[in-house]
Amino acid sequence: MKKIATAILALGASASLLLTGCGSSERAATSAAPQSSATSEAAVPEGMIKIGSGFEAGAKIGVSLPQKTSENWVLAEGLFTDQLKAAGFDPIVQFANGGAPEQQNQISAMVEQGVKLLVVGAVDGSQLGSQLEAAKAAGIPVIAYDRLLMNTDAVDLYMAYDNFKVGVLQGTALLEGLEKTGKASPWNIELISGSPDDANSKPFFEGAMSILQPKIDDGTLKVLSGQVTQQQTSTAGWKAAEAQKRMDAILSANYGGDVQLHGVLSPNDTLARAALTAVKSAGKPNPVITGQDSEVESVKLVFQGVQYSTIDKDTKTFVTKVVEYIGKIQKGEPVEVNDTKSYDNGVKIVPAYLLTPVIVTKDNVCTQYAADTAAGKAAAQVCGK
Ligand code: BGC
Repeated sequence: MKKIATAILALGASASLLLTGCGSSERAATSAAPQSSATSEAAVPEGMIKIGSGFEAGAKIGVSLPQKTSENWVLAEGLFTDQLKAAGFDPIVQFANGGAPEQQNQISAMVEQGVKLLVVGAVDGSQLGSQLEAAKAAGIPVIAYDRLLMNTDAVDLYMAYDNFKVGVLQGTALLEGLEKTGKASPWNIELISGSPDDANSKPFFEGAMSILQPKIDDGTLKVLSGQVTQQQTSTAGWKAAEAQKRMDAILSANYGGDVQLHGVLSPNDTLARAALTAVKSAGKPNPVITGQDSEVESVKLVFQGVQYSTIDKDTKTFVTKVVEYIGKIQKGEPVEVNDTKSYDNGVKIVPAYLLTPVIVTKDNVCTQYAADTAAGKAAAQVCGK
């Protein structure tokens, strides 16, 4: 039904809209591209997909970002604005600070304002269905940025750092850090996971548990709170205060007297620092704790050995890649994807271009970051470069 409705809508518009409006992104468009028909009809090479059929240079591009729950989103705002302008586009970059309803309105407004492509970092990836359908009906390609868009066919491409790999790196770092303490196992750990409405929280947690669960099962690790599922360990809205409150409660209920908390799996830096605050106020020694995002404060804590690890998912590299892809899509050129299996959003498997995250500990904190990034500047400060 939806397909028919879309097609009828598009028919009323133009041939170009019809093609993109009801077409799958994995098929080359056959006409209405701004470049020569020879190029547009060329077969799409293996490992690449063609999204839409191109649009005019200098077009408006909508970038809808979630709340500022970590520094990477704040960095992304400036980078998208600057880089899209430098590439000759007319960017509209907005945060949805008020949550999913605000993001719905924002995306609708962007479509009405005539954006030719949408980049969406969703607050809640499953709440944008009708707004994305409207974008699709208007022939607007949609890139899911960092977080997958769920339960919709109106998403052409997913671009992100490999989320499952992030979790694997965190689980591995936690174990490695515990071993390095020289204390004999079993080690007591607690688990924190991200916001349940963020599609990334599941692969982060599952990646980490692919490493930690076998060690819980064989008794090397103990979770004294008994909270071991994604649901039990989740942090609504990625809010630091939520994570801290939960850790306060866990510590007072399970870690009285001499009982030690040796390690904490934290999905990102903001929540790691919140957990460290809780541990400190419970008067307990610093645990081995993971993180993600290479936030300025955490880069310093990693250097000091207070936070065991973080993850480098450089926002500049990421946004640069997305803007490069927008340039190609504008010209009607195909783009490379490197994962066409993992990201099932409930309606379709969304072709993905994944970047590689890197674990950062005291061992590489002074060498890992590019000097012109926020993390690089923080590292330079503490490392005395
Ligand atoms: C991002 C993380 C970030 C978290 C909270 C996730 O979707 O992938 O890098 O820490 O959101 O903002």
